[in-house]
Amino acid sequence: MSLTLFDSHCHIQDPDFDADREAVYQRARAQGVGLLVPGYSMATSYLAMEFAELHDEAYALIGVHPHDAKDVSEEDLTELRRWSDSPKVVGIGEIGLDYHYMNSPALRQQEVFLRQLELARELELPVSVHSRDAEPDTLELLDQVPGVQGVLHCFTGSEEFANQLLARGFYVSFAGPISFKNAHALRAVVSAVPKDRLLVETDAPYLSPAPWRGQRNEPLRVIRNAEVVAAQKNCTTKEVFSFTMSNTYNLFSRMPRK
Ligand code: NI
Repeated sequence: MSLTLFDSHCHIQDPDFDADREAVYQRARAQGVGLLVPGYSMATSYLAMEFAELHDEAYALIGVHPHDAKDVSEEDLTELRRWSDSPKVVGIGEIGLDYHYMNSPALRQQEVFLRQLELARELELPVSVHSRDAEPDTLELLDQVPGVQGVLHCFTGSEEFANQLLARGFYVSFAGPISFKNAHALRAVVSAVPKDRLLVETDAPYLSPAPWRGQRNEPLRVIRNAEVVAAQKNCTTKEVFSFTMSNTYNLFSRMPRK
């Protein structure tokens, strides 16, 4: 089956899928869902790349999440540069700032985010950005490395933050939280983001949309998130498939268009 939709952010290399990874991929593929698989550490970046190289409709992003910023060495950045030679590596991610959990010191997170933004600019690859409780610093660091294209993944922020990202040419990606019962403010942001700047994702194995909230998530459920977007946009789900597909290809332009 040809592709109809991208899950623009899912961690199928995660240990949660060790028992049935292939079946999870095939379920998504059978419905025309392609996968973008970001790493969050060096090891999981390598696994993302390896998975993408073995699966036609999967692509990898490589990078280190702010949680693990404390462990990043100069050699790791050199390794990421080397891995980016793989044609299945289409971006740098997920990278960013997380001041909610603060698993790495804030200054270290900023330094590692900046270094990976610079790497993305050097390699001319787009970035997938994680930002939690860190909106002003995220924008400030993006501004320090102008010219980098990217997406704010699993957007749960304010409309003002979305507008700031859009003004910088960024895309905004929505995951399961848009389906949660009380997420009225977040759904208003979905309505406000223009169709040509909107992506959908699952962030699997996390954040299953309603009615599966709390269960392990999987890439196939990106269809549910597209349905919620369609309701907010007063358009058909098919139309959401179509515009998010072209947005994904436009941003991750190393992927061959099919
Ligand atoms: Ni993620």
